[in-house]
Amino acid sequence: MTTAVSIPKTGGSGGHAAVAAKARQVLKAYGTGETRVVALDHVDVDIARGQFTAIMGPSGSGKSTLMHCLAGLDTVTSGQIFIDDTEITGLKDKKLTRLRRDRIGFIFQAFNLLPTLNALENITLPMDIAGRKPDQAWLDRVVETVGLAGRLKHRPNQLSGGQQQRVAVARALAARPEIIFGDEPTGNLDSRAGAEVLGFLRRSVDELGQTIVMVTHDAVAASYADRVLYLADGRIVDEMYEPTADAVLERMKSFDARGRVS
Ligand SMILES: Nc1ncnc2c1ncn2[C@@H]1O[C@H](COP(=O)(O)OP(=O)(O)OP(=O)(O)O)[C@@H](O)[C@H]1O
Ligand SMILES: [Mg+2]
Repeated sequence: MTTAVSIPKTGGSGGHAAVAAKARQVLKAYGTGETRVVALDHVDVDIARGQFTAIMGPSGSGKSTLMHCLAGLDTVTSGQIFIDDTEITGLKDKKLTRLRRDRIGFIFQAFNLLPTLNALENITLPMDIAGRKPDQAWLDRVVETVGLAGRLKHRPNQLSGGQQQRVAVARALAARPEIIFGDEPTGNLDSRAGAEVLGFLRRSVDELGQTIVMVTHDAVAASYADRVLYLADGRIVDEMYEPTADAVLERMKSFDARGRVS
């Protein structure tokens, strides 16, 4: 019943881009009664395969919640989430854990590297835990793409912040997940290190056919994406294709102006 996952080669626009993940009428509410917060308000979204999608919006607009729900890290109150054709809403814990492990990659703001392992050991750790042998040719390519070939024996405290985050990116790419989610993956980096990491993410989409969804506050970071989704009050209120930093900044300004009460 399961089909082999080939390297997606779509990317760019045009044609009927395959969908890597989608949300249908997703409602996420926290709390009850007076403390009830609707974090996602009936969200419908398709994430195209082989594309780099950025999610933006004000603090509290639901960006992390949307990402966590799409990635199966959080449950929805109602509605459906699909990874490829698999509906993950309603999957039992064990199956969901396995699906996350086998098909999804994560890059967090804090790199979550193990200090006692070197870079290479950190990169292959998830596969080691899963008892899977890394595909050596692929691993070499990932290490090459993120520019870590000379640093594989170094432990995290012997690496710069940007290099540590590149290890985290390589770790996410190494297992060849169908889709990678990042919640402000460059949030802790200075602009140069951030640009490095964003460049690698971009290349992993262009050269490795990776699908990436990234939450960011930063217009420059968003400009590396193919598409930007804007959230406000738990709804997708706008989107932009082939964003430039200036265009994203302009759009953010217009949201600020509308949202501000003087
Ligand atoms: N565990 C929780 N319990 C209660 N409310 C929550 C919880 N997690 C998030 N929320 C609320 O849901 C809304 C959306 O939160 P979310 O973390 O998705 O925002 P965000 O867009 O990622 O914001 P930021 O840019 O600050 O990270 C917020 O109003 C938040 O207070
Ligand atoms: Mg957040």
